[in-house]
Amino acid sequence: MTGDIRVVTIDGPSGSGKGTVSRCLAAQLRWHLLDSGALYRLVALAAERRRIPGTDEAALARVAADMKASFAYRNGVEQVLLEHEDVHAALRAETCGKLASKIAAIPAVRHALLERQRACARRPGLVADGRDMGTVVFPDATVKVFLTASPEERALRRHKQLKQKGIDVSLRDLSKDVSQRDQRDANRTASPLRAAEDARVIDSTRLSPEEVTARILPWLEAAGIESNRA
Ligand code: DC
Repeated sequence: MTGDIRVVTIDGPSGSGKGTVSRCLAAQLRWHLLDSGALYRLVALAAERRRIPGTDEAALARVAADMKASFAYRNGVEQVLLEHEDVHAALRAETCGKLASKIAAIPAVRHALLERQRACARRPGLVADGRDMGTVVFPDATVKVFLTASPEERALRRHKQLKQKGIDVSLRDLSKDVSQRDQRDANRTASPLRAAEDARVIDSTRLSPEEVTARILPWLEAAGIESNRA
């Protein structure tokens, strides 16, 4: 599927810390990074801008197949480009995440994104962050990790992140959103959120991203993947 290119998958629900941990690992390994959630968010944003209703599955799948999206760094700052515009900030909005979770339940959308995601597996290797990286997109990955954390802790983390950005939402509303999103992502028929049978599970409730990364590194080393720790 990805030939002999090595892939490490980090799956888990929102707020489990997989984004931070994946970034950290990709930086240490000097590997490519796939934030697959950003692709679903991009479809949501592009569909919203084109005024495509969430019920028009065929049109949404076309957006997923033909949207012009790319990831880049400019002066060390991460950019996500949609039709050449940096939409990094717009993608992180709660409304975009909610719509992305709804759109992600459509099999035709998932199918349209499959090859885009697999095409990210390039040398020297890929760290892939998402919900179905180890189960569907990269079933032959070298190392698979599934991160969990209690729903309360995940809502708290998200609340803190939003507060840092100056966005004021109530913790109670956020907890409700997090649990609705969890249920939708875990109960859909197409590639539901679940740990691959051969995934190693880490509960990050009481762990910092650095501690989680430190637990993963020995597994990578055991699989013959060397990190560039200073
Ligand atoms: O990780 P995130 O919050 O950026 O993801 C946004 C939504 O996209 C999430 O609620 C579910 C969906 N998603 C998915 O279904 N499969 C993936 N591999 C990644 C994200």
